Amino acid sequence: MEIIVKDTVEEMSQTAARVVARTLNSKPNAVLGLATGSTPLGLYQELVRMHREGGLNFSQVTTFNLDEYAGLTQKHPQSYHYFMHENLFKHINIAKQNIFIPSGTTDNYEAFCAWYEQRIVECGGIDLQILGIGSDGHIAFNEPSSSLGSRTRIKTLAKQTIDDNARFFDSPREVPVYAITMGVGTILEARRIVLLAHGKHKAEAVARAIEGPVTSMITASALQLHRDVMFIVDRDAASSLDNLDYYEWIQDKMVDAP
Ligand code: PGA
Repeated sequence: MEIIVKDTVEEMSQTAARVVARTLNSKPNAVLGLATGSTPLGLYQELVRMHREGGLNFSQVTTFNLDEYAGLTQKHPQSYHYFMHENLFKHINIAKQNIFIPSGTTDNYEAFCAWYEQRIVECGGIDLQILGIGSDGHIAFNEPSSSLGSRTRIKTLAKQTIDDNARFFDSPREVPVYAITMGVGTILEARRIVLLAHGKHKAEAVARAIEGPVTSMITASALQLHRDVMFIVDRDAASSLDNLDYYEWIQDKMVDAP
């Protein structure tokens, strides 16, 4: 695991954007796994800037989003379809047919989930997966006790997640209780994974994901099993790490690595 600590959320976002840009430069038809929420906003802004000012090209890129609330239409302002369109897709040259986001309104969730998994495989698998982390340690909507082998499915949201996400809705009662989400097992099949986190409220989850035991109670801890994972976090999100000095020593030395 590579653990990169940045002083600010802006630097966190820029570092992540450089990883995405490098991926697209070496593989113009890369498959990206994308996340929603407040965490990747700065990353998306930076990618839009790189597209406008540096010509970062998304014309052959395919994307798969991690999750969507069950019951929200694509036009609902809190749906992840809407979020992705507003914050990224409408600003870049991605082909509409290459965008995949779980459906929150399918009449057959089971069939949809199987199709989504199959579509990822047909597109060659995910080259680079972007993740946030919930304050309960979740990745995507894989809440505590989710199987570490889980696949795309309907999931009941934890009370903690509903409370965390209530800030985006008029009242906590409006937050959907169910979501469709890629599973931990689906995520672990990505070739490369970058998890972003900023803010003190993520510090405990980040520490447990990186330094705690691998446990379904902190699904981000399953990333310890992945061969190419990078945590890019700001100083607040890194503040509960026991071995912060060690990670910074490694980062410092990596510059001159043979
Ligand atoms: P946030 O959510 O980016 O809005 O903090 C992250 C998550 O729940 O995965």
